[in-house]
Amino acid sequence: MIGSLRRVRSVSGSVRVRLTLWYVLLLALILAGFCTFIYLRLLRDLYSEADRLLLDEARGLSTALQTDDPANVAGLLDDVPAGTIVVVADTDSGGVLASQSGSTQAAADLRAMPLQPATDAQVQSVTLAGDDTWRLATLTVSDANNTRWIVRVARSDRDVQAALRQLLAQMAFAVPLVLLLAIASGLFLAGRALDPIDAITRTAAQIGAEDLGKRLGLRGRDELARLAATFDSMLDRLEKAFEQQRQFTADASHELRTPLAMLMSQIDIALERPRSPDQYQQTLRSMREDVAELSRLVSELLMLARAEAGQEPLASDRLDLAEIASGVANSMEPLASARHVQLVARDCGDTPIVGDETRLMQLVVNLVDNAIKYTPPGGVVTVATRHEPGWAIVEVADTGPGIQPEHRQRIFERFFRSDTARSRGGGAGLGLAISRWIAEAHGGEIRVECGPTGGTSFSVRLPGGTPAAALSS
Ligand SMILES: Nc1ncnc2c1ncn2[C@@H]1O[C@H](COP(=O)(O)OP(=O)(O)OP(=O)(O)O)[C@@H](O)[C@H]1O
Ligand SMILES: [Mg+2]
Repeated sequence: MIGSLRRVRSVSGSVRVRLTLWYVLLLALILAGFCTFIYLRLLRDLYSEADRLLLDEARGLSTALQTDDPANVAGLLDDVPAGTIVVVADTDSGGVLASQSGSTQAAADLRAMPLQPATDAQVQSVTLAGDDTWRLATLTVSDANNTRWIVRVARSDRDVQAALRQLLAQMAFAVPLVLLLAIASGLFLAGRALDPIDAITRTAAQIGAEDLGKRLGLRGRDELARLAATFDSMLDRLEKAFEQQRQFTADASHELRTPLAMLMSQIDIALERPRSPDQYQQTLRSMREDVAELSRLVSELLMLARAEAGQEPLASDRLDLAEIASGVANSMEPLASARHVQLVARDCGDTPIVGDETRLMQLVVNLVDNAIKYTPPGGVVTVATRHEPGWAIVEVADTGPGIQPEHRQRIFERFFRSDTARSRGGGAGLGLAISRWIAEAHGGEIRVECGPTGGTSFSVRLPGGTPAAALSS
C-alpha cells in the first residue's frame, strides 16, 4: 500500500509526467477555446442565414404582389422550399393565399394567427403546433390596386439545431481523442527528451570522491549536451582540486618529516650516553634551528591554507612600493654580502599603492631571497621600482643561471623546487606560491622572465602607480 503510494508520488513528481500534464492542460484549454469560438460563430451564422433566407422569400412574394403579377405569385406559392409555410392575406377582404410543405397543423396555426402588420423585427420566433422553434418573417405591402397584403413566411429552425447538435457531438468525440493522443505523444516525446538526463543521473550516481575520472561524454549541441559538458568540466576542476589537495598533503608531510627526523636523530645521539653541558648546549642550539625552520614551514603552510580559504585578512594602508623595496634591500644587504652578491636598489619616481605592508615586504623578501640564494658569488641582484599608468611595479633581477623554460610556470606551485635548488638545501618551495597569492590578493600579478644566457627577472605589478589612482582605490 505504502509502496504503491510512493510509486504514484514519484510518477506524479517526475518531470516527464508533469511536462506532459502541463502540455495536455494547455492543449485542452486551447481546444476548448477554439471549439467554443467555432460553435458560437456557426450558431450565429446559421441562424442569421436561415432568417435571411426567410426574409428573401417573403421579399420575393412582396415584390410579385406589388408588381401585380399573379402568375409569379402563384409560381412562388407553388414552389415553397421544404418545411416552409407561406400565408399571404389580403387585410381588406380577408382573402388568404397560402401554401405549405410539411406540418399541416403548423400551417393551420399560422393561418389562424391574427393579422397584424409587420413590426420592426421582421423575423421573430413563434410557436406553431406546440413547437417553439419556428421563425416567422412578416412583410406588409400594398399592390397597385392599393390592396394591403400581409406576407408571412415561416420555417422551423430544427435543421439548424440538429446541425449544431451534430457539431457538438463530433467535438465531444474528437476533443478527448485528440487529448488522449496528445498524452501518449507527450509522454513519448518527453521521455525521449529526458532520456539523457536519466543517463546523466546514472553516471553522476556512479561518480564518487575516489572515482572522479568518469565523465558523461554526451555528444551533441543541444541544451542537455551543454549541461553534460558543463558537468564534465566541473568534474575536471574537481578532480584537479582533489589531486592538488592530495599532492599538497603528501608534500607537506614529506617536508615536515625531514626536519622532524633530524630532530629525532639529534635527540637519539645526545641520549646515547652522558654528555658534557657544552655538548648538550650545542645539541639544543642545533635543535632550536631545526625547530625554527619547522615553525616557519608550519606558519607558511597555515598562511597558504587560510589564504586559499579566503580567511587571511589584508590591511589597506597607503604605502609607497619604492620605500618597501629599498627597506627590504637594505635589510638584506648583509645576507647578499655574506654570499658575495652585489645588491643594487634603484627607484624611479612615486609608486603609491594601497595594501598590506607586512605582506608586501614578505613578497619582496621572498624574491630578493631567491635572487641572492640562486645567484653564484660575484653576481648582481637589482631591485628596481617604477610606475606605469595605473600600476606600480617592482622588479627583482639577478645574474644567476635562470630558470629552465619547462619550470617557469611550475615555480609558482606549492613545494615546487628544481633539482638544482634542492641540491642547495634549505627552503620548502613555498616562497613563490606565497608571493603569487600576495600579488593577486592586492589585485596585481607576478611574472617571470629569463634571458637567453641566464639571469632571472621577476616583476610584480600592483594597482596604483599614480597618487590619484592609489587614493581612489
Ligand atoms: N631567482 C631565481 N633564480 C633561479 N631559480 C629560481 C629563482 N627563484 C626561484 N627559482 C626556482 O623556483 C623554485 C621555487 O622558488 P620558491 O621561492 O618558491 O622556493 P624556494 O626558494 O626553493 O624555497 P622557499 O622560498 O620556500 O624557502 C626554486 O626552488 C628555484 O628552483
Ligand atoms: Mg624562495
